[in-house]
Amino acid sequence: MLNKNIPIPLYYQLKEKLTQMIQNGEMPVGSLVPSERELSERYGISRMTVRQALGELVKEGLLVREQGKGTFVAEPKINQGLLKLTSFSEDMRSRGMEPDSRVKAIYVQEAPPMVASALGLSSEKRVVIFERVRLADNKPMALEISHLPLAKFPELDKEDLHSASLYKLLEDKYNVSIHHARQTIEVGLSSSVESKYLGIRSKSPVLLIERITFDAKDQPFEFVKSVYRGDRYKLQVELYR
Ligand code: GLP
Repeated sequence: MLNKNIPIPLYYQLKEKLTQMIQNGEMPVGSLVPSERELSERYGISRMTVRQALGELVKEGLLVREQGKGTFVAEPKINQGLLKLTSFSEDMRSRGMEPDSRVKAIYVQEAPPMVASALGLSSEKRVVIFERVRLADNKPMALEISHLPLAKFPELDKEDLHSASLYKLLEDKYNVSIHHARQTIEVGLSSSVESKYLGIRSKSPVLLIERITFDAKDQPFEFVKSVYRGDRYKLQVELYR
């Protein structure tokens, strides 16, 4: 029960209670949260109070509202470290999830000026472009558009990257020694096409990540623009002083 005799607001007590139930598995991922009416009767509080608690849990990403269906316990966010250069496949496997991709397109094209400059291309400017929806346990997490110089990776456009890792392929087949990357992260809103691929509502919050990856000789070999679902990721970094 909630305690009306302590100076902690009731909505906050309910929020804590529900958070605890989510964390200890009493309310598992995907389960339907009882209605406002049920919760207000169960805890003897007003529906307004329940609404405030649920609203905050939705904002914090612990619950999701599905139009016409109700409020559900959300999938936990991926805690993405920022210091290690890893691939999507490695990231998902290390969390016990199965990585996969829906390849939307693979084509060869003259690199746009921004990409040519990022990859340091001057004469031969053709790049292989992969457009992939990245999946974890079959659920869309991110959309990635990767550009790699054709001169360095001939025939790369013939590769089947459906359930394969690009980094593994580059290491095993092309002997690339993947060394470091320069990455920027911005906040954005998903376009309608991105939303469709990611299974989210248009104009949902997303992380826009750009990465230029370098080999051990400090040569850039990959320029990637990614759109990560804001409801599935949080970024983590250790800070020292
Ligand atoms: C991450 C990076 C991309 C990189 C990809 C490779 O998602 N943001 O820049 O291209 O990993 O992943 P994989 O080897 O699984 O194809």
